[in-house]
Amino acid sequence: MENILDKIKTVDSLEGNLIEKFSLKINPFPKSGIANISDADNIVGELVPTSEEITNEIVRYMQDALSNSGQGVDNKYLSLIIRGDYGMGKTQTLMYIKYLFGQLSNERFNPYVVYIDNPGVKLSELIGNIVSQIGIENFRRYLWDIFCKYLEKEDTDNGRPRKDILLDKVNQLKTTNDPNLFTSLGISVESQNESLSWDQVSISYKYLLDKLLNGLKTNEQKAAVQVFKDYLVKCFAEKYEISSIAEYFYDIVTDNTSVTKSWDKLITGDVKYIEKREVHLLKAIVEITKQYLNATDFVILADEFEEIAIGRLKDADLDNYLRNLRSLIDKEKNWCSVFAMNGDAYRKIEKMSPPLASRIGDRVIDLKPLDKVSCIRMIKNYLSTARVDNGEEISLSPFDESAVQALLNTKEQKLQGSPRFIIQSCYLLLQRAAEELEKGQIIDQAFVVKYLSDKLK
Ligand SMILES: Nc1ncnc2c1ncn2[C@@H]1O[C@H](COP(=O)(O)OP(=O)(O)OP(=O)(O)O)[C@@H](O)[C@H]1O
Ligand SMILES: [Mg+2]
Repeated sequence: MENILDKIKTVDSLEGNLIEKFSLKINPFPKSGIANISDADNIVGELVPTSEEITNEIVRYMQDALSNSGQGVDNKYLSLIIRGDYGMGKTQTLMYIKYLFGQLSNERFNPYVVYIDNPGVKLSELIGNIVSQIGIENFRRYLWDIFCKYLEKEDTDNGRPRKDILLDKVNQLKTTNDPNLFTSLGISVESQNESLSWDQVSISYKYLLDKLLNGLKTNEQKAAVQVFKDYLVKCFAEKYEISSIAEYFYDIVTDNTSVTKSWDKLITGDVKYIEKREVHLLKAIVEITKQYLNATDFVILADEFEEIAIGRLKDADLDNYLRNLRSLIDKEKNWCSVFAMNGDAYRKIEKMSPPLASRIGDRVIDLKPLDKVSCIRMIKNYLSTARVDNGEEISLSPFDESAVQALLNTKEQKLQGSPRFIIQSCYLLLQRAAEELEKGQIIDQAFVVKYLSDKLK
């Protein structure tokens, strides 16, 4: 027993061995063989696509997506599909695209990129995902700011600032005889010493409401909240055209229900209205993001699209989803998208919705099984993220080419050239090598076969 435990504990010395024997700070290969979506930029940037051809396709897509030549800023929609079987590197490729967009940010380009790791089963979930990526807190601030600007403007009917009218309305609700009730707002009635300016009270919904309700009786407070709500909803409804979206934004601003709950409210309901709502919602989100984050472009990277196309959805629901996605693209072209999916998923889309397939499928990058050259390149890139001496020439050591050759010779056809299989294997081999090999020794074909004989020919 002691013996076994001692053996397990030798893992402690493994890291030291990696440095001593191979000049590697860590074992850089993800042991799960799954792209790590929280990897830092400097790592993602090293893990370049496995072929020049893929890189070129990505470059062309990004050029065209960012280009304003053509039909103008409101007609920018451009789609790319990353297609490949499980473990072929779709997620890694999306991460790399996200990284490249991020690197571009300067005054001329400032693309806002959201990565969605699972599109959900409804289009509204995909959009909800976008809201939560922007950050619900941020979104709340932006919406509040939009509302304040709305209140500061003059009402078209009587030429007074809306905030004054709002205050009058609340003022009329009050039955108590306290003439100074609203002086603290410094907006109506004569100013008092401790009066606050509009700028000071309008810092947040909670704060302004607090000031408004100050001194009101419970039933008057209720009525005042309603007056306030009517204004907010009217503001958003005027801007974003659909009342349910206005209600949803109201819920975000006031934070009075959980956002998921208000989201549920928005997405359940009559199916025939959903598509309209989603279009307007995406439009609002894109607009707000561009305005408040100074974004020049809005790019959605949606991973795991096969969850939709060949996942849990019934055909009728899938049909509905694809139709909605198509109308989303047709009605709102102010964004660009990259969808990752496997071949079966794409075939299903082609079969169920040829119009959608032609909209999203005009550009496709196919991730094919790795050959020896691309495999060597991928392994080298991983190793270079962990080298103690970064200036060193990019090399394959402690692996050699015969080891790579062996890894590409799998019994199972579907593992042949699979980045996931290769990465997982590299992880394992490096762990064993740190234990077993001496400095200067290499991971060669014999070493590979020794540990992976069940999987290799
Ligand atoms: N160009 C690359 N450079 C370095 N590593 C890569 C590259 N492409 C893929 N990989 C690695 O291969 C493994 C599988 O890739 P990834 O997780 O992206 O596959 P996937 O196609 O998204 O799989 P799934 O369909 O299961 O989601 C990951 O560990 C990833 O880091
Ligand atoms: Mg993936």
